[in-house]
Amino acid sequence: MTDHYAVFGNPIAHSKSPVIHAAFARQTGQDMDYTALLAPLDGFAECVAAFRAGGGKGANVTVPFKEAAWRLADQRTARAEAAQAVNTLRFDGTEVLGDNTDGAGLVADLTRNLGLDLRGRRILLMGAGGAARGVIQPLLVEGPAMLFIANRTPQRAIELAERFAGLGPVRGGGYEDLVGTAYDLVINATAASLAGELPPLPDGVYAGGALAYDMMYGRDTPFLQHARAAGARTADGLGMLVEQAAEAFYLWRGVRPQTTPVIALLRGESG
Ligand code: ATR
Repeated sequence: MTDHYAVFGNPIAHSKSPVIHAAFARQTGQDMDYTALLAPLDGFAECVAAFRAGGGKGANVTVPFKEAAWRLADQRTARAEAAQAVNTLRFDGTEVLGDNTDGAGLVADLTRNLGLDLRGRRILLMGAGGAARGVIQPLLVEGPAMLFIANRTPQRAIELAERFAGLGPVRGGGYEDLVGTAYDLVINATAASLAGELPPLPDGVYAGGALAYDMMYGRDTPFLQHARAAGARTADGLGMLVEQAAEAFYLWRGVRPQTTPVIALLRGESG
Protein backbone atom coordinates (compact mmCIF):
# COMPACT_ATOMS: atom_id res chain seq x y z
CA MET A 1 0.00 0.00 0.00
CA THR A 2 1.42 3.33 -1.07
CA ASP A 3 1.50 5.88 1.79
CA HIS A 4 0.32 9.40 1.00
CA TYR A 5 2.04 12.67 1.94
CA ALA A 6 1.51 16.26 0.84
CA VAL A 7 2.67 19.83 1.28
CA PHE A 8 0.06 22.48 2.08
CA GLY A 9 0.61 26.15 1.25
CA ASN A 10 -0.83 29.17 -0.49
CA PRO A 11 0.63 29.73 -3.03
CA ILE A 12 2.05 26.24 -3.62
CA ALA A 13 2.43 25.75 -7.39
CA HIS A 14 6.18 26.42 -7.41
CA SER A 15 7.01 24.22 -4.41
CA LYS A 16 10.04 21.98 -4.95
CA SER A 17 8.99 19.64 -2.12
CA PRO A 18 7.28 17.04 -4.38
CA VAL A 19 10.47 16.68 -6.46
CA ILE A 20 12.62 16.43 -3.32
CA HIS A 21 10.48 13.80 -1.61
CA ALA A 22 10.06 11.77 -4.82
CA ALA A 23 13.86 11.69 -5.08
CA PHE A 24 14.21 10.64 -1.42
CA ALA A 25 11.59 7.89 -1.86
CA ARG A 26 13.33 6.53 -4.97
CA GLN A 27 16.71 6.60 -3.32
CA THR A 28 15.55 4.79 -0.14
CA GLY A 29 13.00 2.45 -1.76
CA GLN A 30 10.04 3.81 0.24
CA ASP A 31 6.56 3.13 -1.13
CA MET A 32 5.00 6.60 -0.87
CA ASP A 33 3.69 9.49 -2.93
CA TYR A 34 3.82 13.21 -2.20
CA THR A 35 1.74 15.97 -3.75
CA ALA A 36 1.41 19.74 -3.44
CA LEU A 37 -2.01 20.92 -2.25
CA LEU A 38 -3.29 24.47 -2.37
CA ALA A 39 -5.28 25.26 0.80
CA PRO A 40 -7.61 28.26 0.86
CA LEU A 41 -6.38 30.99 3.22
CA ASP A 42 -9.33 30.35 5.56
CA GLY A 43 -9.51 26.58 5.05
CA PHE A 44 -6.22 25.02 6.15
CA ALA A 45 -7.60 22.81 8.97
CA GLU A 46 -10.41 21.51 6.72
CA CYS A 47 -7.93 20.63 3.96
CA VAL A 48 -5.72 18.73 6.39
CA ALA A 49 -8.75 16.89 7.81
CA ALA A 50 -9.84 15.83 4.31
CA PHE A 51 -6.32 14.62 3.49
CA ARG A 52 -6.21 12.56 6.70
CA ALA A 53 -9.65 11.12 6.03
CA GLY A 54 -8.33 9.98 2.62
CA GLY A 55 -5.49 8.06 4.30
CA GLY A 56 -2.78 10.75 4.42
CA LYS A 57 0.11 9.75 6.70
CA GLY A 58 1.83 13.12 7.07
CA ALA A 59 2.30 16.57 5.59
CA ASN A 60 4.62 19.50 5.22
CA VAL A 61 3.24 22.96 5.82
CA THR A 62 4.53 26.16 4.32
CA VAL A 63 3.63 29.85 4.17
CA PRO A 64 1.21 31.06 5.49
CA PHE A 65 0.03 28.06 7.54
CA LYS A 66 2.91 27.24 9.91
CA GLU A 67 1.26 28.89 12.93
CA ALA A 68 -2.11 27.27 12.09
CA ALA A 69 -0.32 23.90 11.88
CA TRP A 70 1.20 24.52 15.31
CA ARG A 71 -2.30 25.09 16.71
CA LEU A 72 -3.66 22.02 14.91
CA ALA A 73 -1.07 19.61 16.35
CA ASP A 74 -1.99 17.95 19.63
CA GLN A 75 1.57 16.75 20.32
CA ARG A 76 4.59 18.93 19.51
CA THR A 77 8.34 18.40 19.54
CA ALA A 78 10.48 20.72 21.67
CA ARG A 79 11.81 22.50 18.59
CA ALA A 80 8.28 23.09 17.27
CA GLU A 81 7.33 24.47 20.66
CA ALA A 82 10.33 26.83 20.65
CA ALA A 83 9.50 28.03 17.12
CA GLN A 84 5.76 28.29 17.82
CA ALA A 85 5.41 27.12 14.25
CA VAL A 86 5.10 23.69 12.61
CA ASN A 87 6.32 22.72 9.13
CA THR A 88 5.87 18.95 9.48
CA LEU A 89 2.84 16.97 10.61
CA ARG A 90 2.68 13.24 11.25
CA PHE A 91 -0.69 11.58 11.61
CA ASP A 92 -0.43 8.87 14.25
CA GLY A 93 -3.88 7.25 14.44
CA THR A 94 -6.09 9.85 16.08
CA GLU A 95 -3.14 12.04 17.13
CA VAL A 96 -1.33 14.73 15.16
CA LEU A 97 2.37 15.25 15.91
CA GLY A 98 3.77 18.66 14.96
CA ASP A 99 7.48 19.19 14.34
CA ASN A 100 9.58 22.02 12.96
CA THR A 101 12.53 20.89 10.85
CA ASP A 102 13.48 24.30 9.43
CA GLY A 103 16.14 25.10 12.02
CA ALA A 104 17.66 21.63 11.86
CA GLY A 105 17.69 21.99 8.07
CA LEU A 106 19.57 25.28 8.27
CA VAL A 107 22.08 23.90 10.78
CA ALA A 108 22.64 20.76 8.67
CA ASP A 109 23.27 22.86 5.57
CA LEU A 110 25.68 25.17 7.42
CA THR A 111 27.63 22.47 9.20
CA ARG A 112 27.55 19.44 6.86
CA ASN A 113 27.24 20.98 3.38
CA LEU A 114 29.08 24.26 3.93
CA GLY A 115 31.59 22.96 6.48
CA LEU A 116 31.00 25.62 9.12
CA ASP A 117 31.59 24.81 12.78
CA LEU A 118 29.21 27.11 14.65
CA ARG A 119 30.78 26.58 18.08
CA GLY A 120 32.27 29.83 19.37
CA ARG A 121 31.22 31.74 16.25
CA ARG A 122 29.51 35.13 16.16
CA ILE A 123 26.20 34.86 14.33
CA LEU A 124 24.01 37.69 13.06
CA LEU A 125 20.40 36.74 12.33
CA MET A 126 18.44 39.39 10.40
CA GLY A 127 14.67 39.42 10.84
CA ALA A 128 12.26 38.73 13.68
CA GLY A 129 9.31 37.09 11.89
CA GLY A 130 8.37 33.44 11.60
CA ALA A 131 11.41 32.50 9.50
CA ALA A 132 13.81 33.85 12.13
CA ARG A 133 11.89 32.41 15.07
CA GLY A 134 12.11 28.91 13.61
CA VAL A 135 15.91 28.77 13.62
CA ILE A 136 16.94 30.45 16.91
CA GLN A 137 16.82 27.40 19.21
CA PRO A 138 18.68 25.06 16.80
CA LEU A 139 21.37 27.73 16.23
CA LEU A 140 21.85 28.26 19.98
CA VAL A 141 22.20 24.50 20.53
CA GLU A 142 25.35 24.66 18.35
CA GLY A 143 27.09 26.80 20.99
CA PRO A 144 27.86 30.10 19.22
CA ALA A 145 29.75 32.82 21.13
CA MET A 146 26.90 35.22 20.35
CA LEU A 147 23.67 35.28 18.38
CA PHE A 148 22.56 38.82 17.61
CA ILE A 149 19.07 39.26 16.16
CA ALA A 150 18.76 42.50 14.17
CA ASN A 151 15.42 43.80 12.97
CA ARG A 152 14.06 46.90 11.23
CA THR A 153 11.63 47.15 14.14
CA PRO A 154 14.17 46.62 16.95
CA GLN A 155 11.59 45.89 19.63
CA ARG A 156 10.52 42.65 17.89
CA ALA A 157 14.14 41.41 17.92
CA ILE A 158 14.60 42.42 21.57
CA GLU A 159 11.46 40.51 22.57
CA LEU A 160 12.56 37.43 20.62
CA ALA A 161 16.00 37.50 22.25
CA GLU A 162 14.39 37.75 25.69
CA ARG A 163 12.24 34.70 24.94
CA PHE A 164 15.29 32.59 24.05
CA ALA A 165 17.71 34.05 26.63
CA GLY A 166 17.63 30.88 28.73
CA LEU A 167 19.11 28.83 25.88
CA GLY A 168 22.34 30.72 25.20
CA PRO A 169 24.02 34.06 24.47
CA VAL A 170 21.37 35.88 22.41
CA ARG A 171 20.68 39.60 22.11
CA GLY A 172 18.38 41.67 19.94
CA GLY A 173 18.32 45.18 18.53
CA GLY A 174 18.27 47.36 15.43
CA TYR A 175 20.65 47.55 12.47
CA GLU A 176 22.31 50.66 13.94
CA ASP A 177 23.43 48.53 16.90
CA LEU A 178 25.66 46.58 14.48
CA VAL A 179 28.04 49.47 13.85
CA GLY A 180 31.53 48.47 14.97
CA THR A 181 30.73 44.75 15.32
CA ALA A 182 31.67 41.88 12.99
CA TYR A 183 30.18 38.40 12.48
CA ASP A 184 31.40 35.05 11.15
CA LEU A 185 27.95 34.17 9.84
CA VAL A 186 25.19 36.54 8.67
CA ILE A 187 21.81 34.94 8.00
CA ASN A 188 19.05 36.73 6.14
CA ALA A 189 15.68 35.61 7.52
CA THR A 190 13.87 38.81 6.49
CA ALA A 191 11.34 39.18 3.70
CA ALA A 192 13.60 41.83 2.10
CA SER A 193 14.91 39.50 -0.64
CA LEU A 194 11.35 38.78 -1.80
CA ALA A 195 10.94 42.50 -2.48
CA GLY A 196 14.41 42.78 -4.07
CA GLU A 197 15.56 44.89 -1.12
CA LEU A 198 18.67 44.91 1.04
CA PRO A 199 18.42 45.08 4.85
CA PRO A 200 20.26 48.20 6.08
CA LEU A 201 23.52 46.52 7.11
CA PRO A 202 26.32 48.88 8.13
CA ASP A 203 29.78 48.42 6.56
CA GLY A 204 32.15 46.11 8.39
CA VAL A 205 29.69 43.47 9.65
CA TYR A 206 31.54 40.67 7.83
CA ALA A 207 34.49 39.27 9.77
CA GLY A 208 37.35 37.76 7.74
CA GLY A 209 36.19 34.51 6.09
CA ALA A 210 32.54 35.20 6.95
CA LEU A 211 29.63 33.38 5.32
CA ALA A 212 26.50 35.25 4.19
CA TYR A 213 23.46 32.96 4.03
CA ASP A 214 20.14 33.90 2.44
CA MET A 215 17.24 31.64 3.42
CA MET A 216 15.71 32.48 0.06
CA TYR A 217 16.84 30.39 -2.91
CA GLY A 218 16.81 30.49 -6.68
CA ARG A 219 17.76 34.14 -7.00
CA ASP A 220 20.94 36.18 -6.62
CA THR A 221 19.53 38.58 -4.02
CA PRO A 222 20.73 42.12 -3.22
CA PHE A 223 21.90 40.73 0.14
CA LEU A 224 24.13 38.10 -1.51
CA GLN A 225 25.46 40.60 -4.05
CA HIS A 226 26.29 43.06 -1.27
CA ALA A 227 27.97 40.34 0.79
CA ARG A 228 30.09 39.19 -2.15
CA ALA A 229 31.20 42.77 -2.81
CA ALA A 230 32.22 42.96 0.87
CA GLY A 231 34.42 39.85 0.42
CA ALA A 232 32.14 37.31 2.15
CA ARG A 233 31.45 33.75 1.01
CA THR A 234 27.77 33.32 0.06
CA ALA A 235 25.10 30.61 0.04
CA ASP A 236 21.40 30.56 -0.80
CA GLY A 237 18.72 28.56 1.03
CA LEU A 238 18.38 25.62 -1.37
CA GLY A 239 20.46 23.38 0.88
CA MET A 240 18.28 24.31 3.87
CA LEU A 241 15.17 23.43 1.85
CA VAL A 242 16.49 19.96 1.02
CA GLU A 243 17.81 19.37 4.56
CA GLN A 244 14.53 20.36 6.25
CA ALA A 245 12.78 17.94 3.87
CA ALA A 246 15.22 15.17 4.82
CA GLU A 247 14.43 15.74 8.51
CA ALA A 248 10.70 15.51 7.76
CA PHE A 249 11.26 12.35 5.70
CA TYR A 250 13.14 10.82 8.64
CA LEU A 251 10.30 11.70 11.03
CA TRP A 252 7.79 9.96 8.76
CA ARG A 253 9.77 6.98 7.47
CA GLY A 254 12.57 6.42 10.01
CA VAL A 255 15.12 6.49 7.17
CA ARG A 256 17.65 9.23 6.47
CA PRO A 257 17.97 10.03 2.76
CA GLN A 258 21.17 11.35 1.22
CA THR A 259 20.79 15.03 0.51
CA THR A 260 23.88 15.82 -1.62
CA PRO A 261 22.56 14.20 -4.85
CA VAL A 262 19.16 15.88 -4.39
CA ILE A 263 20.71 19.32 -3.90
CA ALA A 264 22.74 18.69 -7.07
CA LEU A 265 19.59 17.60 -8.92
CA LEU A 266 17.78 20.82 -7.97
CA ARG A 267 20.75 23.03 -8.79
CA GLY A 268 20.84 21.38 -12.21
CA GLU A 269 17.12 21.93 -12.74
CA SER A 270 17.22 25.60 -11.81
CA GLY A 271 20.11 26.13 -14.21
P1 ATR B 1 8.26 35.67 7.93
O1 ATR B 1 7.28 34.82 8.65
O2 ATR B 1 8.55 35.27 6.52
O3 ATR B 1 9.51 35.88 8.71
P2 ATR B 1 7.13 38.22 8.72
O4 ATR B 1 6.67 37.70 10.03
O5 ATR B 1 6.25 39.13 7.95
O6 ATR B 1 7.50 37.06 7.72
O7 ATR B 1 8.54 38.92 8.96
C1 ATR B 1 9.22 39.55 7.93
C2 ATR B 1 10.56 40.01 8.48
O8 ATR B 1 11.29 40.65 7.41
C3 ATR B 1 10.45 41.02 9.59
O9 ATR B 1 11.54 40.84 10.46
C4 ATR B 1 10.57 42.33 8.82
O10 ATR B 1 11.00 43.42 9.63
P3 ATR B 1 9.91 44.23 10.55
O11 ATR B 1 9.63 43.35 11.72
O12 ATR B 1 10.64 45.47 10.93
O13 ATR B 1 8.74 44.46 9.65
C5 ATR B 1 11.64 41.97 7.82
N1 ATR B 1 11.68 42.80 6.61
C6 ATR B 1 10.79 42.87 5.61
N2 ATR B 1 11.22 43.71 4.63
C7 ATR B 1 12.43 44.20 5.04
C8 ATR B 1 13.40 45.10 4.48
N3 ATR B 1 13.20 45.68 3.28
N4 ATR B 1 14.52 45.34 5.18
C9 ATR B 1 14.73 44.75 6.38
N5 ATR B 1 13.85 43.90 6.96
C10 ATR B 1 12.72 43.62 6.30
